[in-house]
Amino acid sequence: MNTTTTKQIAIAHGDGIGQEVINEAVKVLTVISENSDYHLNLVETPVGGEIYKKYGTNLPEKSFQTIKKSDAILFGAIGLPDLPQGVAESAILKLRQGLELFVNLRPVKLFKPLEDICPLKPEFFPSGIDISIIRENTESIYAQIGGTINHETAINNMVYTRKAVERIIEYAFQFAQRKNHQEIISVDKANVLSCSQFWREIFTEKGKDFPNLKKTNFYVDAFCQWLIRSPSTIQTVVTENMFGDIISDEAAYLSGSLGMAASGNINPSGTSMYEPIHGSAPDIAGKNIANPIGAILSCKLMFEESFQDSNIGSMIETAVETTIQKFRTIDIFPRKLELQHNLKQVSCSEMGNLVADTLKNIMKK
Ligand code: IPM
Ligand code: MN
Repeated sequence: MNTTTTKQIAIAHGDGIGQEVINEAVKVLTVISENSDYHLNLVETPVGGEIYKKYGTNLPEKSFQTIKKSDAILFGAIGLPDLPQGVAESAILKLRQGLELFVNLRPVKLFKPLEDICPLKPEFFPSGIDISIIRENTESIYAQIGGTINHETAINNMVYTRKAVERIIEYAFQFAQRKNHQEIISVDKANVLSCSQFWREIFTEKGKDFPNLKKTNFYVDAFCQWLIRSPSTIQTVVTENMFGDIISDEAAYLSGSLGMAASGNINPSGTSMYEPIHGSAPDIAGKNIANPIGAILSCKLMFEESFQDSNIGSMIETAVETTIQKFRTIDIFPRKLELQHNLKQVSCSEMGNLVADTLKNIMKK
């Protein structure tokens, strides 16, 4: 007898290319709903700049209530160039803090077919790239403690509580263990910042409970260099909020394009939110050229992390990897003529259709 598992997923397209890429990810979720024991109930939840322009709020109460009641959230991107900076963006910070999404998991994987377009020479990644960045997601400078005094002085305070540091470091150690990693790297700036000294103390203390993992500390400047010098050796990385923001954009490009990168804003005992890390990209919005793979791989993370279903997760990944062997959006289309052989450039919606069809074939087997 088949048992159906019903999951409610809040769908927040947001702004800019968020609209386009989430439409494609929804095609993938629809294929899963139609070809598995999942019944996925997708509920639209407006957030961000466009909805702010209509109703004066970037996170309407109705959206927030739906989000809170859902089993997971699929989020596109927010930010509009014609609004003052931060007006749309604060919605994501409200969600991260309000739902205690204290883990920001940002995997960086270089798929085999994209090795040719990796910005590094092959000798720099002899055994591929598969890095998991775990970014603290609720505190640090993002706590928004500060302000401007008389247009002469601006203040942002970096704040870390023991509770926040302990829970993210505990999560990272557990994650590294679950993935059978040998090493965990903690990134800080302990030669300058009190917050980082505090962080490093807690990392060292917690590390004693995980004797089988090698623990390494890097200053953030040195780590940025290590990331391009030796990415094959890097497995789990744990770091504070702003360093994680910066490092994850740098790392994502190693996978060929920021458009490939997925993320999970995770509360291990609550509702989690999955989003591509590329942002709203107003310059290419509405042109149907964005890469929907970051959004699609965010669905893979959702199944793995929220629904503990690595089987569906790996089917989504296989569908993506198979599709990009032949079809590419412009951001992952090789610039060198000799590499373009046998490849076809496709639009955002064509890429979504191709991945969804490939997934359907995989699931029917
Ligand atoms: C990200 C984004 C956000 C952040 C912005 C939009 C507030 O850059 O998710 O990485 O800085 O966290
Ligand atoms: Mn960012």
